[in-house]
Amino acid sequence: MNSGRNIDGLDDAAILLRSRLMLGRLFGVDNPSRVVFTSGVTASLNMLLWGMLEAGDHVLSTSIEHNAVARPLTLLRKTKGIEVTWLECEPDGTLDPALVDAHVRKNTRLLVMSHASNVLGSILPVASCFEAAKRHGLMTVLDSAQTAGGIDFRLDANTDVIAFSGHKGLGGLGGAGGFVLGDGIGAKIHPWLTGGTGSVSHELDQPDFLPDKFEPGTPNTVGILALGASVEELCEIGIATIREKEVRLTRRFLDGVRGLPAVVHGAGDADKSMPVVSLAVPGADLAVLARRLYDEHGILIRCGLHCSPLAHRTAGTLPQGTLRFSFGYATTEQEIDLALAALERVLSRR
Ligand SMILES: Cc1ncc(COP(=O)(O)O)c(C=O)c1O
Repeated sequence: MNSGRNIDGLDDAAILLRSRLMLGRLFGVDNPSRVVFTSGVTASLNMLLWGMLEAGDHVLSTSIEHNAVARPLTLLRKTKGIEVTWLECEPDGTLDPALVDAHVRKNTRLLVMSHASNVLGSILPVASCFEAAKRHGLMTVLDSAQTAGGIDFRLDANTDVIAFSGHKGLGGLGGAGGFVLGDGIGAKIHPWLTGGTGSVSHELDQPDFLPDKFEPGTPNTVGILALGASVEELCEIGIATIREKEVRLTRRFLDGVRGLPAVVHGAGDADKSMPVVSLAVPGADLAVLARRLYDEHGILIRCGLHCSPLAHRTAGTLPQGTLRFSFGYATTEQEIDLALAALERVLSRR
């Protein structure tokens, strides 16, 4: 039988609170109730988008979004009559914030966008886009899957919600993530996932207070514990230190790859990117190259569309997609050099 006691003698509620405080510290939220845990960005965005939008609403998003944004919006368009405009990014993943002003309509309610492309690595001008969105009275939601833990940013007056993924830059386990809410925005979002919360159990309606409003069901306590511990460590290292190292690694890889017969898709500038580099190799079967990098050199990368057909349409890399190399704070310069040497060998024997 579950005693309710857990690691360090803390009960589940205390573990959740400790992690809420850590995530709150990272994202600049002083009230831990405004930190909601879910399984990740996908679950968060589904809850947020279905909870925020009504039939006839118009939404702005971008042409580099992950399917975690693109698919819920597509389903909302087909089933609920939501209108969607994908603001067109340049092929290198950059976005002109003036497009927000240009595409706002009378019925526009929301701007939802990624902080950085998971295909191209390019960091989007979120601050300017959200500032423009707020001038028009829109709600704003940030998909921080690619940037949380790698760039220092917080909730601010122009950012209503930040959705985060625990298992990428935040260093946690798969299946634990969530979202943080600005003051007052929780009341404007209908609960979409409903069920038991262990609170006001005599009511058939979902509680209207945070975080219970958005946290029905059994939480992933182990994952949330690990996420809180990892974020604590990241804060001790310092996000600026992490960023500085990841930029250095990305620059080293970009400099090395320039001499090889591969085309870099993305900003091609480490200072404007996350540590993600996408390559196209004209005439090659990318799956074969990725397989050989792993089998012959132990270098594990991803090839294909990376759950983001929109980004590949924007970059002009459909249908084959790209070879995507990604690095983290734990990656060493020696590993970057090994990856480059392996890529050179694989490309020279095709
Ligand atoms: C930009 C972006 N958004 C959303 C997701 C989905 O995140 P999660 O796995 O936490 O649902 C990913 C994952 O690859 C991503 O890169």
